Amino acid sequence: MDTRFAVEQLRAAATDAVRAPSLHNTQPWRFRLRDGGIEVLVDPDRRLPATDPTGWGVRIACGAALFNLRLALAVAGTPATVRLRPYPAEPDVVARLVPDVPRRPTPAEQALHAAIPRRFSNRAPFWPDPVPADARWRLTEAARAEQCWLELVVGVSAVNAFGELARSSHRVLERSPQYRAERQEWVRSTPAPDGIPAASGGPQGEPQDLLPSRGFGGLDRAPGRDFEPEPLVAVLGSPGNTAVDQVVAGQALQRVLLTATDSGLAASMLSQPIEVPSAREQLRLSLGRFGTPQMVLRVGYGQPGWPTPRRDVDEVLDLPVTRS
Ligand SMILES: Cc1cc2nc3c(=O)[nH]c(=O)nc-3n(C[C@H](O)[C@H](O)[C@H](O)COP(=O)(O)O)c2cc1C
Repeated sequence: MDTRFAVEQLRAAATDAVRAPSLHNTQPWRFRLRDGGIEVLVDPDRRLPATDPTGWGVRIACGAALFNLRLALAVAGTPATVRLRPYPAEPDVVARLVPDVPRRPTPAEQALHAAIPRRFSNRAPFWPDPVPADARWRLTEAARAEQCWLELVVGVSAVNAFGELARSSHRVLERSPQYRAERQEWVRSTPAPDGIPAASGGPQGEPQDLLPSRGFGGLDRAPGRDFEPEPLVAVLGSPGNTAVDQVVAGQALQRVLLTATDSGLAASMLSQPIEVPSAREQLRLSLGRFGTPQMVLRVGYGQPGWPTPRRDVDEVLDLPVTRS
């Protein structure tokens, strides 16, 4: 058995990996083939110092890309053994993947893999139809399968209390001119390979909204076209909050998102209550869970939309130099 990944395997898997979500669609990752293993790295030039000073968002995004990479390799018949943060002296190397014993992909892996190109952040209002119990169960199991938890915020008063927390964290963040300027830098009004196209940014926020919009351009909103009155809000959390825990949470996030897509559900992310430390702590206490909230999702039945652009895969690959 060949115990090395090949360049073609890396390119094919990285094509799926780059479909992962990232803060403002910054795509803060690189992939390299080294000693027959594939490595996922943080791209330090794509950090958001004002929005993500600790690098939490970068690690969530790289974790999500890593999950896609794992799926792609498994579906191609060579699943990977993964080591997170393999080199203590090189913290920007998020993970190293080496080939495991070849095997056939499972139907579940194939279904999640097929969902990769269909998944996108849907920031538009959802239909009011409730998410059925079996779909909720699939979502929570997806988080559990990646060593994380997904807590559904149920009941009008719990959802209202969460909405208040999310809106107040949004106001706190909006006070920073650097934060607002950084967001503006990543909103795109003309076609671009990264950033958020204005058409994907969702409608303008309005005072009656329960959940805050991030303010990515804001499509005009038809009169009376309000958001669903009782959204399904889900909080994803990890057992700890080290750099490795955040990469684990990124993988769980992507598994939950792909499970949602595969279940015919739409989802969007809202991370304002994660980015404000006091709100994050309040959220943790309100859920009564051990561990740390890492992301909040809004899930439901959405109108059709379209995936956002990505940079060409060759821009994010570091291939070994071949000597002739
Ligand atoms: C760490 C992280 C935080 C995010 N926070 C938000 C958010 O607060 N509001 C939002 O609308 N989208 C948020 N997103 C979604 C990104 O904006 C989105 O993934 C990116 O623009 C790419 O678009 P796509 O998800 O449609 O592929 C977040 C994504 C990540 C990974």
